[in-house]
Amino acid sequence: MTLIRGLEGIVATVSSISSIIDDTLTYVGYDIDVLAENAQFEEVIFLLWFRRLPKPEELQDFKKKLTNEMVLPKEVVDFIRNSPLQEVHPMTFLRSAISMLAMYDKEAEFMDEFANLRKSIRIQAKIPLIVTTFQRLRKGLEPVEINPEYSFAKNFLYTLTGKEPSDIAEQALNKALVLHADHELNASTFTARVCVATLSDVYSGITSAIGALKGPLHGGANEAVMHMLSHIGDVSKVDQFVDDAINNKMKIMGFGHRVYRNGDPRAKHLKEMSSKLCKLTNQDNLYEMSSRIESKVMEIKNIPPNVDFYSASVYHCLEIDHDLFTPIFAISRTSGWLAHILEQYDGNRLIRPRADYSGPINQKWVNLEERK
Ligand code: CMC
Repeated sequence: MTLIRGLEGIVATVSSISSIIDDTLTYVGYDIDVLAENAQFEEVIFLLWFRRLPKPEELQDFKKKLTNEMVLPKEVVDFIRNSPLQEVHPMTFLRSAISMLAMYDKEAEFMDEFANLRKSIRIQAKIPLIVTTFQRLRKGLEPVEINPEYSFAKNFLYTLTGKEPSDIAEQALNKALVLHADHELNASTFTARVCVATLSDVYSGITSAIGALKGPLHGGANEAVMHMLSHIGDVSKVDQFVDDAINNKMKIMGFGHRVYRNGDPRAKHLKEMSSKLCKLTNQDNLYEMSSRIESKVMEIKNIPPNVDFYSASVYHCLEIDHDLFTPIFAISRTSGWLAHILEQYDGNRLIRPRADYSGPINQKWVNLEERK
């Protein structure tokens, strides 16, 4: 048996959803640069699930199906109210709440293609509301109902703040959602596929994926980037911080990638947005700090930023609490997870690799009373 640590370079499945070839990311063959500039997030969800762009009437119908499901079961809202709101990390909460949704979905255990699609719509529609309801209740505010005329991105911001967001904020969030929607066989997507390959249900797949995304080597990196920026505090302190971190063999959050070698194609879009939003909100220092960190890490280690690096300052400028950054990643990536879960069911085979055993062998059993 050959061991490849971290399964680097191992091809574990065939997928027609997204691809990374020569540092270019595509969703169903559409370059991420084109999608970032043109697509609505709802179109991207449709694209990932049905492998084609929707026609106008299909998009309208799909949006209606989503908005019709943008309401939480009363029991889930009560669960949020009764949670230790001030103590729990929103990702921990989200993982539990998604799992709980299954208890109020009569089709939770139905495994046919159409039931799985209906459940996918429900999960995609409800996940932003779990996050915004959690946020409002922990701030002592009552939840806000969606406006069915609003886009997915606009409804997220609206149900978060209770105010109609600006066009710039809506466009920025829409773009961030498009950029995070899918990413081939990343750790959380692989987790979701492993889970449902046992023929477990869609909710279990999403719950497992949220757990994997939470870690700072994956989606949790965007919140960690913001901690780093807050800790550094000023552009004049960047060089010392990066020198110390690299000398102490620490990872700089928001840099590096398992698959990309010459840079993450999503990062430039977030960098551009960060520059624009930092200027608009008079937080130039934040962008200057980020940009100096990028130059310094490139200079010393030649490692470019990934999608998480500039998304931190983008979300900060949208006045989003820092511990909601990773939940926003989850809201977007749910579209990709669901696409992969549906693809896994279609032509499923159990995913069960092997381990190279490194423990002791030929041990002799000793009765309990004789053990020293
Ligand atoms: N800061 C400093 N050095 C780094 C970094 C970093 N962020 N990333 C990689 N390196 C170095 C690492 O020290 C190692 O150097 P050496 O060979 O001299 O020991 C080399 O690059 C290879 O690193 P690795 O950890 O073996 O690479 P990996 O493919 O196992 O890990 C990674 C990829 C993304 C986990 C890693 O780059 C990392 O920990 N980055 C910081 C966390 C982060 O930003 N995660 C978000 C990833 S992208 C979005 C997402 O998936 O959520």
